[in-house]
Amino acid sequence: MPVGAKLIGVGAGIPSAVVTNADLEKFIETSDEWIASRTGIRERRIASEEETTSALAILAAKDAIAFAQIEPSTIDLIIVATSTPDNLYPSTACMVQAAIGAPRAAAFDLEAACTGIIYALAVGQQFVGSGTFKTVLVIGVDIHSRFLNWEDRNTCILFGDGAGAFILQAADGENEILATYLRADGTGAHLLHIPNTGTAYPHAGTTPPKAMDRFLQMNGRAIYEFAVHAVPEAVRATAAKAGIRVEDIDFLVPHQANRRIINAAAERLNMRKEQIVSNVDELGNTSAASIPLALWQAIRRKQVQPPAICCLVGFGGGLTWGAAIVKWTAKDKRGDYNAED
Ligand code: UT7
Repeated sequence: MPVGAKLIGVGAGIPSAVVTNADLEKFIETSDEWIASRTGIRERRIASEEETTSALAILAAKDAIAFAQIEPSTIDLIIVATSTPDNLYPSTACMVQAAIGAPRAAAFDLEAACTGIIYALAVGQQFVGSGTFKTVLVIGVDIHSRFLNWEDRNTCILFGDGAGAFILQAADGENEILATYLRADGTGAHLLHIPNTGTAYPHAGTTPPKAMDRFLQMNGRAIYEFAVHAVPEAVRATAAKAGIRVEDIDFLVPHQANRRIINAAAERLNMRKEQIVSNVDELGNTSAASIPLALWQAIRRKQVQPPAICCLVGFGGGLTWGAAIVKWTAKDKRGDYNAED
């Protein structure tokens, strides 16, 4: 008999260094006006050398654990969605497992670029739903700044670093993960990629790749076109799977890539401004971390108050896209710890 699942915690791990658009103006030909009007981004966080992917993931994990007030030792599975792990192996998830003290948790990484957190949630839900595991920690984390060409104004202005985490638990009552929906289209793989970081590098093992060859490359216009279609499609398909109408969704929590993409998708879905959760202005595009980070902040700021039907929707490299509709009922068990003035 399938077991229901619910989200009981959310957490964040963000680097301390803030890089504003004005900071970028100092070394590339751009302007705060251009970046803000084309993307909605005003600033982003950039990881220091010590702030590795695992370090940010651990911060987010601990924050989510504190939110839910669970014992780390009760966690059965850790899934880390990332495209920018510390190393090819061990997995970032194993490093989180050791650091938070979850000795009986299985741990693995999953890669679906910016959609990774949706894929990870869906996989986590399968383990809970089948009765295999009771408590699953799901983290989305990326440090794209290490793979950006800081002389390329088309890409370097867009990304920020960060980690966001969710805790999924078997539900006694109703199932609060109403539906998930996962898609991919590998024919668009070349539209957004970080080349020469794996075995496809032609001289692997003999000549180390040059830093210049390992920068993120993107066809911005094509990704934009893809995203404004993929987001409404995923939302509608997931709502249909959940047996609800799009109008029944209280909040849209989209991947934070670009305010214009988010607004265009929301318009197509007839959603009001107040229903859109976004912090792209403050954190930029944090890839696999952006959806939990957006929800985390909306909860802190009391924009999202339980109970609320939230549609989390992601898109990105692969190409990949997908969504999850969840009923958010969790409250921060630390009390008003997170209330912001
Ligand atoms: O997780 C998914 C990650 N990827 C994305 O989300 C990317 C989606 N795409 C986008 O967000 C947009 O396509 C961009 C923000 C990347 C670009 O916006 P756009 O409206 O599509 O601009 P464009 O690429 O058509 O560029 C317009 C002009 C160009 O100049 P010319 O050739 O018309 O003279 C660019 O060189 O703007 C120029 N430009 C800039 N100017 C100032 C490009 N980047 C910059 C910049 N500052 N940073």
